Amino acid sequence: MTDPDTAAGQAEVPPRLQDVLGVPTLPPAAATRVTNRIRGLLARLRRGMAPPPVRIMESALAGLETAVLAALCRLGVPDRLTGPIPVAELAQGCAVDVHRLTRLLRFAHVHGWVRLDRRDRVHPTRLTTFLRTDHPGGWHAWVTFAAEREITAALGALEEALSRDGDAFAAGNGLPFFPWMRAHPDRRAGFDAAMAAGARIHGLLLARAVDWSTDRRVCDVGGGDGTLLSVLVAHHPHLRGVVLELPEVAGRMPVNERVVAEAGDAFEAWPTGCDTYLLVNVLHDWNDDAATTLLRRAAEAAHTGVANGASPRVIVVDSEAHPRPTDGMALLADTLMLALTPGGHERTVERFAALGRAVGLEVQRAHRLASGDLALVLHPVGAAGRPPAVGATA
Ligand SMILES: C[S@@+](CC[C@H](N)C(=O)[O-])C[C@H]1O[C@@H](n2cnc3c(N)ncnc32)[C@H](O)[C@@H]1O
Repeated sequence: MTDPDTAAGQAEVPPRLQDVLGVPTLPPAAATRVTNRIRGLLARLRRGMAPPPVRIMESALAGLETAVLAALCRLGVPDRLTGPIPVAELAQGCAVDVHRLTRLLRFAHVHGWVRLDRRDRVHPTRLTTFLRTDHPGGWHAWVTFAAEREITAALGALEEALSRDGDAFAAGNGLPFFPWMRAHPDRRAGFDAAMAAGARIHGLLLARAVDWSTDRRVCDVGGGDGTLLSVLVAHHPHLRGVVLELPEVAGRMPVNERVVAEAGDAFEAWPTGCDTYLLVNVLHDWNDDAATTLLRRAAEAAHTGVANGASPRVIVVDSEAHPRPTDGMALLADTLMLALTPGGHERTVERFAALGRAVGLEVQRAHRLASGDLALVLHPVGAAGRPPAVGATA
């Protein structure tokens, strides 16, 4: 068990939006959508201006971005760049060749990860700050995770995912994702740290967007290292939380009196007596059959609550699949799920509603969060439900 005082994910004081997201206030969800559309349009324009061989080469070599970013992070460049320093001094600190480091820094300069001036000095940028290991957003962990060998092995076997029961991660690594992670505890910890970066944001968004006033106990199913619940209870001190996780995760989870871990299998049984059951970035790991089983467990837990006079709800947060392919995080997430999971994928609101209906849950509200993700509030069919729970933006 980890020391609660030093444990990651235990936010007694909620993280600041500015620290985690880099913006002082939350943009309305509609503004995020418009911004993303404009970014997508500009990206299409940029691509369209290049002749086919250039576009093909740019795509073929796109993996260099991950490689350079990860190499710089592994060298500790963002941590060393607390202010402008000569490249030679940085190279000496990292114990690498100055000319070779300069080449990586030139690549990094073009991507905005650092800035090089004309006097061979390297400056931190806003992004450098976010890449530091001590940054409260924790995004360094995502870079490390995305560049690990098991991920590149899965991506390298992507075509194996295209048959009906195909699994690119298993083809590249010998085991499916979660069993492989169980056998590699250090990588599992890295994965949890990467997930925690997104969970911090979702915790902030849900804390503000959802009415928690009548809740007492919240269960985060597949809640990783408990970061989301810790952020939530830090915002709403009357709440208590339980994270249902695989034993190898629950056993390492920092606990305090307000957020506890329960080791178990979400396909088997869920804790009862909770007012809200969260499934955040969980259903997209699974094919429709497995996702239906998880929703059935959610419905059972909610119906038990109704039988006891409560009004439990289920909140599903995932990326939203768009009917037409749209440049953006949802498309990246869906393709990543194809590479890492046995049949997981992003879904439309209609698809979620159909899966819910099949197990006796109805979508009461569907909201787009400022992150661009969907938050769906589901209630047992026939139960009175609560007044609308999610605000217009998050
Ligand atoms: C993609 S991660 C999402 C983590 C977290 N909800 C978040 O948004 O950051 C999916 C989580 O589901 C958990 N999980 C997978 N299979 C599970 C099972 N059978 N029972 C409980 N948790 C499971 C994994 O351990 C992992 O932490």
